[in-house]
Amino acid sequence: MRTQVGIVGAGPAGLLLSHLLHLRGIDSVVLESRSRRYVEQRVRAGVLEQGTVDVLDEAGVGERMRAEGLPHHGIELRYGGGGHRVPFERLVPGRAITVYGQQEVVKDLIARRLADGGTILFDVPDVALHSLEKDPYITFSGERLDCDVIAGCDGFHGVSRPSIPEGVLTVFQREYPFAWLGILAEVPPSAEELIYAHSDRGFALHSMRSPEISRFYLQVPPETSLDDWPDERIWAELRARLETVPGFTLAEGPIISRDVSAMRSFVAEPMRYGALYLAGDAAHIVPPTGAKGLNLAVADVRLLTAALAEFYATGSTALLDAYSGSCLKRVWRAQHFSWWMTTLLHTFDDDPYGRRLQLSHLDYVTSSEAAATTLAENYVGLPFDFGARP
Ligand code: FAD
Ligand code: DHB
Repeated sequence: MRTQVGIVGAGPAGLLLSHLLHLRGIDSVVLESRSRRYVEQRVRAGVLEQGTVDVLDEAGVGERMRAEGLPHHGIELRYGGGGHRVPFERLVPGRAITVYGQQEVVKDLIARRLADGGTILFDVPDVALHSLEKDPYITFSGERLDCDVIAGCDGFHGVSRPSIPEGVLTVFQREYPFAWLGILAEVPPSAEELIYAHSDRGFALHSMRSPEISRFYLQVPPETSLDDWPDERIWAELRARLETVPGFTLAEGPIISRDVSAMRSFVAEPMRYGALYLAGDAAHIVPPTGAKGLNLAVADVRLLTAALAEFYATGSTALLDAYSGSCLKRVWRAQHFSWWMTTLLHTFDDDPYGRRLQLSHLDYVTSSEAAATTLAENYVGLPFDFGARP
């Protein structure tokens, strides 16, 4: 088999890349180790930045997102017995976020690729990358795929990044002493907007997927087992962390999905080795508090598409050579924002000094227009040319 771009991973990064390349007349094959059903059901992100929405719209895959996604013009920070709205419409006029499940984006992209005659191979075992310096190829279950370049879009635990020889990558990382327990519940959201709640008991997040489905997260110890969290314990803890302002009652309903996610900050530089280009979680991870991971994946593949389009149209490798550096500008901004949101809102054991700093910073963000604007412009997403040199 031969293609122009061999793509490893059918997450948001790999699927969107394949579609954007197709729009530029560039051929690709996507190899995915899991089943179509599995990737379409995997519950993860929910917040799309303005720029992500624009990219999906412009690529002609935004129809259902426009119809079913929920545009939000603010979030609430809840702590110390009060709720404080961060109003995007005033602080970053014309910019908003859209709440639309990652698995819905994935479903839309798979449907579109298949309708356009694209090749996505699911349930593909034993993917291995070869000859990354020149004439690269991928092997899987006894087959061989030759390509001009390989896009490693296979997430944090994929094979692409570990295929790069030792000593090439520099890794920067930070672990956090907690995880997130996430649930989906069949109950209308208890508020119209997302609530990021900080309390002595730990962080909690009220989010949603639709007018009928709520999504919640709880800060929990890192080795948490779902077995220790029967429904009643989950609801009791959500109530304790969210029912902290007068007049707010948490609506409860059947829990239809639950998961535990580790919290990690991670960047591997550069995002390229020879003919292999890393994109999305394969190259960088942020803790989910800032809702940036999926959005960064979209920003990466947008740049990779432009670089490959220039290469195939003119033979120039200028944009391909600039790819890693350009992506990393945005990656590091999101790293900082996600680390900042995480340390601002979670509870750390045995750190009374840090606790006072958190409360002081929350008071600042909720009273200073300048500080609130910093949060708002990062949350809705900085422009795609952020950090670009003139
Ligand atoms: P993935 O989605 O991880 O896709 C990689 C794909 O590669 C997978 O389908 C995997 O099966 C496949 N793969 C792996 N190994 C192989 C192999 N060896 N061979 C072939 N295929 C392979 N981000 C946001 O922007 N907003 C949010 O609100 C948000 N909330 C989040 C909440 C939670 C609880 C979590 C866990 C994450 C959240 N994120 C959020 C992050 C977001 O989900 C990820 O950043 C995003 O999935 C990255 O997409 P990706 O395509 O790079 O990687
Ligand atoms: C969701 C996830 C996040 O990480 C976040 O910051 C906000 C919302 C969500 O899944 O809805």
